[in-house]
Amino acid sequence: MAVDLLLGLQWGDEGKGKIVDVLTSNYNIIARFQGGPNAGHTLVFNGMKHVLHTIPSGIFHEDAVNLVGNGVVIDPVIFKNELDKLATQNVDYRKSLVISRKAHLILPTHRLLDAASEASKGKAKIGSTLKGIGPTYMDKTGRNGIRVGDLELDNWKDKYRALANKHESMVNFYNVDLEYNLEELETEFFEAVDVLKSLKFIDSEEYLHQALRDQKSILAEGAQGSLLDIDFGTYPFVTSSNTTAAGACTGLGIAPTSIGEVFGIFKAYTTRVGSGPFPTELFDEDGETMGRVGQEFGATTGRSRRCGWLDLVALRYACQVNGVTQLMMMKADVLSGFKSLKVCTAYKYKGEIIQHFPYNVEVENITPIYTDFEGWAEDLTEMDNESTLPKSLNAYIDFLEKELEIPIKVVSVGPDRKQTIFR
Ligand code: IMP
Repeated sequence: MAVDLLLGLQWGDEGKGKIVDVLTSNYNIIARFQGGPNAGHTLVFNGMKHVLHTIPSGIFHEDAVNLVGNGVVIDPVIFKNELDKLATQNVDYRKSLVISRKAHLILPTHRLLDAASEASKGKAKIGSTLKGIGPTYMDKTGRNGIRVGDLELDNWKDKYRALANKHESMVNFYNVDLEYNLEELETEFFEAVDVLKSLKFIDSEEYLHQALRDQKSILAEGAQGSLLDIDFGTYPFVTSSNTTAAGACTGLGIAPTSIGEVFGIFKAYTTRVGSGPFPTELFDEDGETMGRVGQEFGATTGRSRRCGWLDLVALRYACQVNGVTQLMMMKADVLSGFKSLKVCTAYKYKGEIIQHFPYNVEVENITPIYTDFEGWAEDLTEMDNESTLPKSLNAYIDFLEKELEIPIKVVSVGPDRKQTIFR
């Protein structure tokens, strides 16, 4: 058996949670491989909305095992809150949730460092979710981090104290106004660690290899999007992990040869939350309509998302970096009612027309070149069959498939599990 990957191709918030939830019945194991509680994966079914941050989106299906991989960073406090919510919905997570011993922990002081670093940057801030993601990955690569497996050692609190003390002096070094009560934060943290310790820790790479030998099917669930990748995204306005396909290999310990399908998820338009370049961003009524109709507010931070037309230059780049084999187009319903639509097919970059995603995509260097499309007036949200889709939507889809040379297998027409059209 192979491991299939599901990845966001834009700046995150593409709707990965919904699709994982829809696909879970085809898989035995759902595994998160990078990121942490900066993610907010939204699932809607039976008239209820659920937001997951660190726990894989297969958790609502009884038969799937949900694995938090070594590449993920875990904040025990947020994790505990997620578990508490699941308990109120009678989800038996003890049976279906396993955690890699090699996953790193986000400490309260990592969050403080994130806040201090952002505050010190002023206007140049990344727009981080302030969940401590960057500082935790810095400690991981700096070989100072605390891992889930350390919690099984007697002296882990000594290691914790030494690292937290170091972090406190680093926070002071930033010399910014930051109010906090570390004692309170630590009480909450240690309580949450006790809950975490009651879950099943595993050597996840061994577990997954055995699962593959046993012919189990595995879906690796990406977080954030390709344009937020630490190497290939719009650096430095990115997150601190590899959000692209390669991240699934390092974040789970699976070989590239084990990868099967690569599902690439994109919105029918583009959004971005936080700072950083966004060539097709709209500042007009169209952008405002996308934001309002699409309810474009961050699932983790509640911030408004910036909106713009679909950017095929960026999407093509993401498809290449990830080796996407199937595309899934989300939120097509949000574009209903636009008289005409635009898709960016090339950039004018320093006086030249280019079709690749260049080193620097700051707006002052880039003028997007657009192709116009006829819009559609029909409400798509009740549609459940490809044959009922409006002609102009089909023309939009056909164009994208031809340009990207990858089939669009799913068109999502609403947030609910049921509002999913397979092609
Ligand atoms: P961080 O990962 O919280 O440090 O945030 C870095 C950048 O990535 C900021 O612009 C965030 O808004 C963005 N970001 C992080 N996680 C997500 C996500 O799950 N969806 C969308 N944007 C995200």
